Amino acid sequence: MTTPAAVIDDAAAYAQAVEDAGRAAVAYYAGGTSPLDDDTYDRLVRGIAAWEAEHPDHVLPDSPTGKVAGGAAEGDVPHTVPMLSLDNVFSAEEFTAWTVSLARRIGREVTRFHVGPKLDGLAVAARYSSGRLTQLITRGDGTAGEDVSHAIGTIEGLPASLAEPVTVEVRGEVLMTTAQFEHANEVRTAHGGQPFANPRNAAAGTLRAKERAYTVPMTFFGYGLLPTPDTDPALAERLTASAHSDLMKLVADFGVHTSAQTAVPDTVAENPEQVLVRVKEIAAARADLPFGIDGIVIKADLAADQEAAGSGSRAPRWAIAYKLPAVEKITRLLQVEWNVGRTGIIAPRAVLEPVVIDGSTITYATLHNPADITRRGLLLGDHVMVHRAGDVIPRIEAPVAHLRTGAEQPIVFPEVCPRCSSGIDTSQERWRCEQGRNCHLVASLSYAAGRDQLDIEGLGATRVVQLVAAGLVADLADLFTLTRDQLVALERMGETSTDNLLAALATAKAQPLSRVLCALGVRGTGRSMSRRIARHFASMDAIRAADAEALQQVEGIGPEKAPSIVAELAELAPLIDKLAAAGVNMTEPGATPPSATATDTGTSGAASAAPAAGPLAGMTVVVTGAMTGPLEQLSRNQMNELIERAGGRSSSSVSKKTTLVVAGENAGSKRIKAEDLGIRLTTPAEFAALVADYLN
Ligand code: IVH
Repeated sequence: MTTPAAVIDDAAAYAQAVEDAGRAAVAYYAGGTSPLDDDTYDRLVRGIAAWEAEHPDHVLPDSPTGKVAGGAAEGDVPHTVPMLSLDNVFSAEEFTAWTVSLARRIGREVTRFHVGPKLDGLAVAARYSSGRLTQLITRGDGTAGEDVSHAIGTIEGLPASLAEPVTVEVRGEVLMTTAQFEHANEVRTAHGGQPFANPRNAAAGTLRAKERAYTVPMTFFGYGLLPTPDTDPALAERLTASAHSDLMKLVADFGVHTSAQTAVPDTVAENPEQVLVRVKEIAAARADLPFGIDGIVIKADLAADQEAAGSGSRAPRWAIAYKLPAVEKITRLLQVEWNVGRTGIIAPRAVLEPVVIDGSTITYATLHNPADITRRGLLLGDHVMVHRAGDVIPRIEAPVAHLRTGAEQPIVFPEVCPRCSSGIDTSQERWRCEQGRNCHLVASLSYAAGRDQLDIEGLGATRVVQLVAAGLVADLADLFTLTRDQLVALERMGETSTDNLLAALATAKAQPLSRVLCALGVRGTGRSMSRRIARHFASMDAIRAADAEALQQVEGIGPEKAPSIVAELAELAPLIDKLAAAGVNMTEPGATPPSATATDTGTSGAASAAPAAGPLAGMTVVVTGAMTGPLEQLSRNQMNELIERAGGRSSSSVSKKTTLVVAGENAGSKRIKAEDLGIRLTTPAEFAALVADYLN
């Protein structure tokens, strides 16, 4: 699918577009720092062409549609034969239409086509004299190019001497493979330079750079062979009369690298249908290629067909580029997330400003490992070149350094495991939580022991790590069967600590069901949801007996969440049984189970459950500021639990639905909002009196 052309609706927008495209083209061909990605450039040029078609009398002389594409860089070496560009098609229909117009032009069907990858690099002409490579010239404006002979010897596939002592010009593309690009950026940044945004820019910059302190390799792909004025006349005649496929064999025989040595070799096709089959094959292979291609080049293979078709000033009429969707876009790096995998590997992931690449919206990209981030010199807020081909996970190629504003920030690497807070093993490129596969267990046990869950004092992350490492605990229930002997035997664990921990564990066993449920870490349920479920069903047995429909009677559980909670609970069944067997409480004090009729009649919504009793029945209560007096020791979570025990509903934000705001010391905006809305306010002391019977 082609992305739409840029919309240009007046002369001023047209002039601006021509200027933007011109600037991008200069940058693209000169030093490789185009502010537009290829797709955006293509869209702009198509928009310009569309406007020009409507206003043929107002075409600007420097429009990118009228000249040799990218003809900006002034060179000083004239080309003997102009180095032309190619016209583009973007779909099978456009391609077929091109073949029809070509057949009409030459008065017959094209005998056969030559099909090959369109390599994403820079065109160069390599002049060989008696088999020796003497001069290397860029395309420049198509008529003359820059002498880049200094790069001879750094381009793989472009030998210093040919297998035969011929005088010829080999044309082709200089590019960097993905590996060469990564290497080039590493070397460049190590020398204090800015990284290149993508392999194409890297090849362009490297090819033109003289007197660098370092050299980085590039790769050449030959795709043309022509005589020079000094070529032996017999050879010159042979070259002019040869089919393109034969010329390509000759280029390869001379020892020059061509696509023949890749996974997408050039082929010939008898008709347009066969071409389209090959186009699909090359497109499918694209994601796995070790170098970038941006399309497929289709040429009339026979010299006679080419001659009959002729060339325009910009492009030959006997060849066309079938462009593939762009796989690269520039977007911004907003954040880096650190995720811990099942094996404990801590992997960074880039969060991007969403960008559409080839029809999919990309919001994340892989960053591999911390060293990779450092190597690429990435900063938060950077414009980055994102690459996504096929089903491969999108990756960030490099920052677009020249778009930096100075406001970019360094990426902070984690100092402890972001999941379980243990140390990090940084000895390998891929960082790993020191707990390895146990990381998830340490994290889930630490969570379960936390203040708002089972509140097991003395069981911090360090102690959990110790218990797991000693093999004493493999799940949450194992905590409750720990013996005194096992605990005192642990390092840094005295008699008193042991007794305290055993006492804390005994207390934890009596925690209300809502906290036990929360400690289990059922996905999709946090503290308040666990409380609502526990209050609604009153016992673990009732929760486990509930199907998705019954669960939906709990406020906040919809048709999507309900089945996943049911599934999670089923998965946790063995652990729940083990906890119950260890004596952990499985009921919610003060809650009454839903009556059989309430569920059976199929009424839905929390309102159908028996109305809660208590002094706060029917009220929505918000707590703000610091609690004092009898409430001083209560965490926010405990305050919320208290509100719900007393029949109310706890909420964290003040709205018109709020009935009561408990405003403690230093209450701020919530208090002001409550006053504005005329909502009843109480002090912590008044509130404590109101719910005195429910304080425990
Ligand atoms: S043929 C006159 N073959 O694409 C024919 N060009 O967008 C022009 N390119 O300037 C060259 N792969 O730099 C040809 N297999 C291939 C190519 C190829 C890449 C480049 C070349 C050309 C540009 C046009």
